[in-house]
Amino acid sequence: MDHFEYRGGVLHAEDVPLPVIAAEVGTPVYVYSRATLTRHARVFRDALSVLPKVHLAFAVKSNPNLAVLKVLAAEGYGADVVSAGELDRALAAGILAAEVVFSGVGKTAREMRRALEAGCGQFNLESEEEGCELAEIAHAMGLVATATLRINPDVDAGTHEKISTGKAENKFGVPYDRAAGIYARLAALPGLAMRGIALHIGSQLSSLDPLEAAFTKAGALMRAIRAEGHSVTHMDLGGGVGVPYKAGEVFPQPAEYAAMVARVTKDWDATLMFEPGRVITGNTGVLLTEVVRVKDGAVHPWVVVDAAMNDLARPAMYDAWHDFAAVAPDGTRITANIVGPICESSDTFAKARDIDTVRRGELAVFRTAGAYGATMANTYNSRPMVPEVMVDGDKWAVVADRIEPSTILSAERVPSWLE
Ligand code: LLP
Repeated sequence: MDHFEYRGGVLHAEDVPLPVIAAEVGTPVYVYSRATLTRHARVFRDALSVLPKVHLAFAVKSNPNLAVLKVLAAEGYGADVVSAGELDRALAAGILAAEVVFSGVGKTAREMRRALEAGCGQFNLESEEEGCELAEIAHAMGLVATATLRINPDVDAGTHEKISTGKAENKFGVPYDRAAGIYARLAALPGLAMRGIALHIGSQLSSLDPLEAAFTKAGALMRAIRAEGHSVTHMDLGGGVGVPYKAGEVFPQPAEYAAMVARVTKDWDATLMFEPGRVITGNTGVLLTEVVRVKDGAVHPWVVVDAAMNDLARPAMYDAWHDFAAVAPDGTRITANIVGPICESSDTFAKARDIDTVRRGELAVFRTAGAYGATMANTYNSRPMVPEVMVDGDKWAVVADRIEPSTILSAERVPSWLE
């Protein structure tokens, strides 16, 4: 459920008509609904309240906007970060360092030091090598790093191969059958306090079955590690719960997810940690765009919009579907291809899609663009960096400026030997 609805034939974000935002900020622009964000944060949190001990770490990568993080911090979320940059954002939003989980397969020594200085609550280690390096750095700083070991459970998440992370062929975690040995060796290192196991098998999962299989394997490993005399107090179950992108699609609800977790983990006696991203932010945003022109095509017309693959990369990268809707539909439909202005054919949002009829100068949205939207934007073709707006009831504000190509150009230098 979201708060992007038609009133009087015009699409609104909460109480704000989208044409008002387009007129003042220009397009393309991401528009977030604070009410939707808060609602999703609460639904997920409340669903998990059936579990005894829970820690929520919002996956910052899904939407790192400072205003978004502020809202989630106020809802009691910690943060799952994968770079010093994300750590700084989480701290800037008021999330306590102790509530931050540092994930990622390539944490640098500099990032480890920065996170240790800040007091980062947990490092999710992706290898024995990384654990040894972190232990050495922490020990030299006179600190002890709290850590979990990320395992690769070799479970097929059944999602797009580019966002699948829990198969043996993926770079993430340590092989399941070597994990107990690695855990024992890391637990013996000064500078490191091993407290649990972490896993994350992929994103945009449409079924709970692979998650259940992975959690079950993690539970068995937890028992084996405890049987060898090591402490396991925290189990980080990652993110991955998918959201519907097409009207009418049905996905597992947070309550069903929580019921499955409760069943699998009932005798674990551990703090359960979660790293949700998309399920919190996906439906929170739309990408508002203007139709540049409609060009005649060999089979179907080309609707050329002013948003492009640099603003919303998901269709080009993962063949992802985002519903497209006119802001002021006239009730008629056409079959068309929807493309951006960038000079490559991957800049395609939809092929032969049945859509609201749109004409030059009219506004439209790509829905469910709040997760992995603005955060993956770039300036390819020397286009501006797309801005972001947050709506709250009848109030709205620009929460990330459009960065003009001239600003980016001004950061470039011609060396004297080329003058
Ligand atoms: N935890 C870890 C360790 C992760 O790698 C991720 C996402 C998450 C949590 C959050 O997963 P979520 O709950 O959002 O599924 N750019 C892609 C998605 C990449 C996901 C990367 N990792 C997309 O647009 O679909």
